[in-house]
Formats: sequence, C-alpha cells, structure tokens
Amino acid sequence: MLNIKKPRGTNDFFYDSSKNLEFIENKIKNIVKLYGYGRIRTPLFEYTELFTRGIGEGTDIVGKEMFTFEDRGGRSLTLRPEGTASVARAYIENSMQNEFAVNKLFYLGTMYRAERPQKGRYREFNQFGAECIGSSSPLIDAEIILLNINILKEFGIDNVNLLINTVGCSKCKPSYNNALKEAIGNKKDELCETCQRRYDINILRILDCKNDRCREIIKDIPKFYDYVCDECKEHFDRLCEELTRIGQSFTVSNTLVRGLDYYTKTAFEVQTDALGAQSAVLGGGRYDNLIGLFNNGKDIPAVGSAMGIERLLIILENQNNIISERLDVFIAAFKETENEVLKIMQKLRANNISCDYGFSAKSIKSQFKYANKRNAKYILVLGEDELKKGMCRLKNMDSTEEKEVSLNDIHSNIEK
Ligand code: HAM
Repeated sequence: MLNIKKPRGTNDFFYDSSKNLEFIENKIKNIVKLYGYGRIRTPLFEYTELFTRGIGEGTDIVGKEMFTFEDRGGRSLTLRPEGTASVARAYIENSMQNEFAVNKLFYLGTMYRAERPQKGRYREFNQFGAECIGSSSPLIDAEIILLNINILKEFGIDNVNLLINTVGCSKCKPSYNNALKEAIGNKKDELCETCQRRYDINILRILDCKNDRCREIIKDIPKFYDYVCDECKEHFDRLCEELTRIGQSFTVSNTLVRGLDYYTKTAFEVQTDALGAQSAVLGGGRYDNLIGLFNNGKDIPAVGSAMGIERLLIILENQNNIISERLDVFIAAFKETENEVLKIMQKLRANNISCDYGFSAKSIKSQFKYANKRNAKYILVLGEDELKKGMCRLKNMDSTEEKEVSLNDIHSNIEK
C-alpha cells in the first residue's frame, strides 16, 4: 500500500471549504470590477533571478523560502513566492505601457513559500493581488488601500488596523539606513544571529524580526519620516490627507518596512486580532524602482497590494460569516421511476436550477437524509402514481410545505 500524504503546509479544499474559497473569489472579482481592474494570469514558475533580483537577496523569501529547481537545460526555476515581480516582468514583456498610461491589474492564485507551517501560514497559499502601474499619484496609493478595506467590509470585517509608513526612495533610503546603523550600532552584539548578519547586508530587515530582544532594541529607532526627502514626505503627507478626507482611520507605524526589498515611499499592512500570530491579512506598497529592472533602468511608478485568501477564510469562518451556495433541488426516486431522473434534471438545469440525484441511494428515507445533508432547498419525489399523471411531489425543505406539481412546470415552482 502506498501511504502518501499531501506535502507539509499544503491544503486540500473540497465541498464546503472549496465552496467558501469560490464564494470569496467571486465576491472579490465583482468588487475589483468596480475599480476598473483587469485580471492577469502569469506562470506558476518563473526564472529564479526574477525573484532574487526583484524581491531582494537579503529577504527571508529569497534567502530561505523559495521552492527552486532546475529545468532539463540546467536553468534555475522557482515556484512564484508572490505576484508582484511576475506582474512587473509581464508588464514590460508585453509592452503594456503602450496600451494604457495607467494599467490596473489583479490576480487570484497560489503562491509558494517554504515557511514553517502553522495556522494561517502555509507553503502553498492563495493571494488576491492588485497592482496599479504607471502613476506616481498618492491618490492611487489611497485607492488601493480603500479597495482592500472595502473588500474586507463587504465580507463584514470592520475591526481592522491599517498601518502605514513611508520607506523613502533610492535617493533618501541610504541616509535612513545610516541613521539606523548608528542607532543600533552599540547593541549589534545583542541582536539575534540573523539580525547581526542583517545589520551588515540589509539593515532594514531587522525591523521585521520577531525576536523579543531585537524588538526591544528597535523600539526607539529613528523615524523613517524624519530622514526621507521632500518628495517622499509630500507623497506621504498627501496619502495621509486623502485617507483622512475619506474618513479612513490609520496608524503610522515607524517600524513597518515589510519583508520585501522593492518598496519605495508607501508601505501599508492591514492587521486583525482575529488571526492570532499571523496578524496580517494583507499588505502592500509602492515600488517605483522595480519595473526599471526589466526596462533598461527606466523606472515606471507602481503601487500594489496582496491579501491572503486563507487568512480571510479563517476570519470569516471564525465569524460564521460564510454564505455558501445551496443546491436547489435534490431528486428522490424509486427503482420504478429512476428512468425519468436524467430527463427531469436536464430540464431543470436548462432553466438554471441546480439539482442532483443520489445515484446510489436506496430507500426514500435514505434519499431524504442525503438531501438534508446536501442542504438542498427542495426535494422532488418521483412516485410511481404521480408519474403516471405527469406529476411529482415537491417539498420545500425550509418551510416543509409539500405540493404536487406538473413535471412540465417544476421550474416555475422553485424559488431561487
Ligand atoms: P506579503 O506581505 O508577503 O506581500 O503577502 C501578502 C499577504 O499574503 C500577507 O499579508 C498574508 O495575508 C498572505 N501570506 C503571505 N505569506 C503567507 C503564507 N505563507 N501563508 C498564508 N498566507 C500568506 C506580498 O506578497 C507582496 N507581493 C504584496 C504587494 C503587492 N506589494 C505590492 N504589490
């Protein structure tokens, strides 16, 4: 016997959990349409250097979380750990800048990170991402944030904490990095081993560290805002103004730098207590220098976000807030009337009514039990006597009302 289980940190979604995922994805698709986004689908795997260069060598994702393998020609490929680098590549590869001045793209799909699995943290997980490429206006940063907050609201999630920060641009980031080095310098030896390395290679990553002692050391670090250039300051001020104007509350977090290197100016994250340790349901920011990597150094401003679908699912399940679709009609038949089942189901489906039959169900009692388990709105009983008259019995499973209806007219008796 082969005893094979799914790989660690992956999930099987079926029946209710898969319906719930679909419910979430469909709702998101309808909402993003209101904001003028079009869907983009990029490959599940890309050449590895897309991520090492795009996300940054000193990040946790590139350093220890990528699923990397070689193709037959010995070229290194990686399962996508996130969507932004792929969208940036696809944007240039397909010359989307010639299509529209501003391109709004969204994606829904699986991402892969070799993290230590726990609730809300998986090795294969789904993200909804939105990327807006071509505008440097802080208005679009505000719109992306509002899009995400509105999606959460549509799912009945209001109790969230929006954190924002500015992380500067290529011009002013180095002066903040220097200030940070100076501020932490005399405590360098007290940092965890990883952060001691980060201190030399990529000091900003120390701000993401979960180690208690490291968190204590960075408590009073200088504020990014005090070191950024006038342009970045203006951008951040305007973003705060826009959010305030629209009535969106937020907290400025000096330590929010996010775990990816491509961010410039805006960084944001939405956290909720409902998730326990994995408190971030979504995150994003501006990445004005990423596209230049694929465009001969010619930068194109962009901003985006990604939401963890499994994390959203956990919140909704905790709130009992999932309304998944029900089966409209379940057919119960006797051996003598089973010949009619497929014909009746063809007609119902042609009228956009979902229906099913037990196929292996034996007694009528067990078919009723099964219909209940399937949460059907109606059960349609095909009795021999009724059938002879061209009729059947239709029972509303919620009101328990039962009536005889004509086989030619079942659909008009079904309330959708
Ligand atoms: P990120 O913060 O790495 O950003 O991921 C975004 C969201 O994906 C997280 O807030 C979380 O909800 C979910 N997520 C991340 N890792 C896992 C995991 N191992 N298991 C379950 N859920 C997870 C990005 O990916 C950026 N690409 C966001 C972005 C788009 N920035 C600009 N544009």
